Amino acid sequence: MTDKKEYCIGSLAAVEAGEAILVEAGGQDVALFMCRGKVVATNGQCPHAEGPLHEGEVDGAILTCPWHGWTFDLETGECQEDDSIILERYPVRIDGDDVFVSL
Ligand code: FES
Repeated sequence: MTDKKEYCIGSLAAVEAGEAILVEAGGQDVALFMCRGKVVATNGQCPHAEGPLHEGEVDGAILTCPWHGWTFDLETGECQEDDSIILERYPVRIDGDDVFVSL
C-alpha cells in the first residue's frame, strides 16, 4: 500500500468563484470542480484520451469532456459511455479557505 500525501492546492474562494480549475500537485494534473456545493477533485486528464477535463461542462453532477463528449459522474467517477472506466477522484479537505487534496 502506498502512502497518500496531502497537498494544499488553492483557495476555496477561487474554486467557488467560477469555472473549474486545473492545478498541479505531486507532479500530476488535478482538476477542481464545484459540484452541488462541494469541491470535487479529479485527475485533470480524461481517461479516454487525456482531454483537459477542467475545460468540460458540468451539469448537476455530470461532467462532459470537451474533446469527445464522454460523460462522468463527479460524485462517483463513473463513466456513462463505458462502465469499466472510472474517473480517478481524490479526497478533498477544506480548512478555512485552503483546499487540500490527498494523492
Ligand atoms: S479525451 Fe475525453 S472524451 Fe475523449
